[in-house]
Amino acid sequence: MKMLSNHNAFTGDIDKYYSIEFGGKRPGFYAKLDFWVNHFGFHCVAAYRFGQFATRLYKKNFFLGFIPKALSGFLSFIIRMIYHVEISAVTIGPGFYIGHLGSIYIGGVSIGKNFSVTHNVTVGLGHSFGKEGRPIIGDNVWIGTGSTVAGAITIGNNVTIMPGTFLSRAIPDGCLIGGNPARVLAQNYDNTKLFMGNGDPPPVIFEH
Ligand SMILES: CC(C)(COP(=O)(O)OP(=O)(O)OC[C@H]1O[C@@H](n2cnc3c(N)ncnc32)[C@H](O)[C@@H]1OP(=O)(O)O)[C@@H](O)C(=O)NCCC(=O)NCCS
Repeated sequence: MKMLSNHNAFTGDIDKYYSIEFGGKRPGFYAKLDFWVNHFGFHCVAAYRFGQFATRLYKKNFFLGFIPKALSGFLSFIIRMIYHVEISAVTIGPGFYIGHLGSIYIGGVSIGKNFSVTHNVTVGLGHSFGKEGRPIIGDNVWIGTGSTVAGAITIGNNVTIMPGTFLSRAIPDGCLIGGNPARVLAQNYDNTKLFMGNGDPPPVIFEH
C-alpha cells in the first residue's frame, strides 16, 4: 500500500464518514457542524489521527511538538476515560470508521485502509503461550459488534467478521467469518455494501 501522510489518512477518514453519514451527498455547513460535534465515533478517529501527527512532530522537533504531544495525551485520556475507546494500533490506513461507541479497543500492529468497526470490538493481544502478539489486518475489513480478534495473526483484505465472533486464526482474503471459535462461513464474500450508508455507493478512499 502506498504510504500516506497523516493528513491524507484523516482526509480519507472524513471522506468515508461523509459518504456514510450523508448518503454520498455534500453536507451543508450546519449538517457538518452537527456531525463534527455529535458523532462520537468520529471524535475518536480524529483524536487518533491528531495523536499520530503530534508524535511525528515531537520526534522531528521537540520544541514544536511538545504542546501538540501533551494535548494529544490529554485527548487520548478523555477518549479512554469518557468514551471508553482505546486505539493504540501503530498504523491505520485512510477510511478508518467507528460507527457507534461502547468499549472499543483497537491494538493491532497495522491495519489497512477502509477499516470499519463498531461498539464492543476488541482487536488485541493474544495470550496463547508461544504465539503471543497482535493482529495485522488488511484493507476493506469490517468487524461486527461484540467481536474479538486476537493474537499474532494476519487477516487478509476484504474480510468480514460477523458480530459476536472470537477469531484467533489467520484468515485469507475475501472470507466471511463467524462464531466462537471462528469459522470461515463463505469465501469471495462481497462486503462492499457494509461500507456504504443507506444504499449509497461505496466511499472512495483517496490516495492524495
Ligand atoms: C485464552 C487464550 C490464551 C487461549 O489460547 P489457545 O489455547 O491458544 O487457543 P485459541 O484461543 O487460539 O483457540 C481456542 C480453541 O479453539 C480452537 N479453535 C480456534 N479457532 C478455531 C477454528 N477456526 N476452527 C477450529 N478450532 C478452532 C483452538 O484449536 C483451541 O482449541 P484446542 O485448545 O483444542 O486446540 C487465547 O484465546 C487468548 O489469548 N484469548 C484472549 C484474547 C483477548 O481477549 N485479547 C484481547 C486482549 S487486549
